[in-house]
Amino acid sequence: MASPLAAGAILLLVALSVADSRPDPLIRLPSYRTNQGSEDDSVGTRWAVLIAGSSGYGNYRHQADVCHAYQIMKKGGLKDENIIVFMYDDIAYNEENPRQGEIINHPQGGDVYAGVPKDYVGDDVTVGNLFAVLLGDKTALTGGSGKVIDSGPDDHIFIFYSDHGGPGVLGMPTYPYLYADDLVSVLKKKHAAGTYKSMVFYLEACESGSIFEGLLPEDINIYATTASNAEESSWGCYCPGESPSPPPEYYTCLGDLYSVSWMEDSDIHNLRTESLHQQYNLVKDRTSVHNTYNFGSHVMQYGDLNLNVNNVFMYIGSNPANDNFTFIGDNSLSFPRSVNQRDADLVYFWQKYKRSAVGSSEKIQAHKNLVEVMSHRLHVDQSVELVGNLLFGTEEGSNILNAVRPSGMPLVDDWACLKSMVRTFETHCGSLAQYGMKHMRSFANICNAGVKTETMAKVASQACTSIPSNPWSSLHRGFSA
Ligand SMILES: *[C@@H]1O[C@H](CO)[C@@H](O)[C@H](O)[C@H]1NC(C)=O
Repeated sequence: MASPLAAGAILLLVALSVADSRPDPLIRLPSYRTNQGSEDDSVGTRWAVLIAGSSGYGNYRHQADVCHAYQIMKKGGLKDENIIVFMYDDIAYNEENPRQGEIINHPQGGDVYAGVPKDYVGDDVTVGNLFAVLLGDKTALTGGSGKVIDSGPDDHIFIFYSDHGGPGVLGMPTYPYLYADDLVSVLKKKHAAGTYKSMVFYLEACESGSIFEGLLPEDINIYATTASNAEESSWGCYCPGESPSPPPEYYTCLGDLYSVSWMEDSDIHNLRTESLHQQYNLVKDRTSVHNTYNFGSHVMQYGDLNLNVNNVFMYIGSNPANDNFTFIGDNSLSFPRSVNQRDADLVYFWQKYKRSAVGSSEKIQAHKNLVEVMSHRLHVDQSVELVGNLLFGTEEGSNILNAVRPSGMPLVDDWACLKSMVRTFETHCGSLAQYGMKHMRSFANICNAGVKTETMAKVASQACTSIPSNPWSSLHRGFSA
């Protein structure tokens, strides 16, 4: 039963949210002000770090999301010196891009690529550079523009990441990938340095809830929302063959459902009048397709939830052109039909195959690519299953590998074990690659069951007698952990 205190708090929240959505002359949130000048004085500097974790035209949507986010920050009044962008930058001038030099994030949308700073591009998009940027540590950078979050105690930081992920892991266009324990310890270190007032983290990836679940403290002034809970996919949208579909010349998805939901909301509203909590509710409703979860996921909140009464403006500013567009509770945003994040890549490979001319060299190449991506998936799925059966027996194998820990608990207790299991598996079976991140829970559960690395090595060598020759399995760019 709810305590009287909790009930009181809920009533207060209801009162606050009503007050905020329909500004009342008597009740205002402390953050609601009409005078622009004084607002800016109260806020310190706004910083933003925007990260697209993938590469390749089939992943067009992640870099499109990040470019779109940059345009919002820019229109919101953030300066380029305070916006740091990580993107592989292989989309705008990709030979497959029908509009050379442009990137769009909506079927009818304009270019979002113009002006995006190329801070960390290509092989400079690394976990090491991301951590150096977050910690403001120029000496730890390799390549790139040299921009870091050189923030002070009054400043607000906004982080947005979009890519593939898996339980406890986020993709990067380079290896190794980004692991939840390392990310959260960098955030704790940033807090210990006293170099921000509060931070908001918006995260789009499969199983993105697992990055913060049981890991992100509630007392380090960080509020995070994620596209999905710890055990489900997130969703790509504006995909070929779905509705709405991209212009016909595009055979790749243009956006991701959670990402476009917060951005299309931010595009049109005066963000001084919208709290983080209101934006969360709207994004949650849209990403869950009105709570049906048909083609959608559970948007989650983590960390210091008290921060969600702050307005969005405090973190990403507000476009002066929207000054007269007050946030209202019901949203007029559309509900695009979406594609599971992991299947969005297959849509791309399939569309490319389908559209190329019969007998052309493109068709032969597209067929080869499709076969390779499918056989890599099959190989990874079967090898992980076989490892489970060899470790725990055919009866228990898949139950143990797929077990989900109670909510509030992190994926794994020993993250060093998880990374070592991944490297051991990859040594014998080849790279997990982007798709194989989905199996991270299996490796975590192998650690949680107390299996030793030597046992894993023996079993993996039995499961995989050789590394398949397809490019996805290749380890030439390194291990994913
Ligand atoms: C907002 O409305 C006021 C009053 O109608 C008008 O003077 C102002 O130009 C409008 N601002 C914008 C950005 O449209």
